[in-house]
Amino acid sequence: MTRYKKQDPEITRRRFINTALGASAAVGGLSLISTLGSANPVFRLTPKKAPPLKGDILVHADPAKFGQPVRVDELSADKLVRAWPQGKDENGAPVIRDGDPTSILAIYRFPKGELKAPTNLEATVDGEIVAYGDRCTHAGCNVDDGQGPGGRSIMNCPCHSGQYEPREGCRVIGGPPGHPLPQLPIKLEGDRLVATETFLSVPYGYNKEEDWEKYVQKVEELLS
Ligand code: FES
Repeated sequence: MTRYKKQDPEITRRRFINTALGASAAVGGLSLISTLGSANPVFRLTPKKAPPLKGDILVHADPAKFGQPVRVDELSADKLVRAWPQGKDENGAPVIRDGDPTSILAIYRFPKGELKAPTNLEATVDGEIVAYGDRCTHAGCNVDDGQGPGGRSIMNCPCHSGQYEPREGCRVIGGPPGHPLPQLPIKLEGDRLVATETFLSVPYGYNKEEDWEKYVQKVEELLS
C-alpha cells in the first residue's frame, strides 16, 4: 500500500535520513508495538484514540462550537480553525477522535493561487482549503497563528518558536522542528469537510514513514 505522495522532496529527504539513521542504529526486528513507541500503542486503541481516517468529518475543537462540522465560510487565511476528525464507533455512532492529541488539526482557506508546492494541491479543496496536523513535530506542542516578516500570517509554535509556512505544505521556516506539519487530504462533501485518507506524512511521535504506515494499517484493520 502506498499512502504517501512521493513528490515532496522534503519528505523524501527526511525519509532517506531516517532510513540511514535507522540502519546505523541497528534497531531492526522490533515488534510493531515497540516500534510504534508509547505515544500510540495499538493495544490501547479505541475509535476515540484513532488518527484521522478516510471518511472522517472535520468538526470544531473550540469549546464554543465543539463537535459542530467546520463550515467553509468560517475559514480564512489569517486565523486557523482547530478541528478534530469525527468518525464512527463499532456501533456506527459518531465519535470524535479527541483521545489522541496527534489527531488535532488546523484548517485554513487561502485565496486562489497562494497555496504552493510542496503543498499537495490535489489533497486540498479547490486549491484553497488545506488541513494540517496541529502538533509541532519538534516536541508535540499545539501550533498557533503567528506573524512572519511584513505581518504575513504563519504558524508559530509557542514552546520553542518553531515556525511553519502553511501556504507551502507547512514547511519549517524557523526554529527547531525537523520536518513539516503533516497535511491531511480533504474534500468537500455537501457542506462538510471530509478526510480522504490519513496524514500524508509522519505526525509528531513518529520518525519513520514505515512505522506510521504500519500503525495506520493496523488501526484500519482493528476499526473496520
Ligand atoms: S515543540 Fe514546537 S518548537 Fe519545540
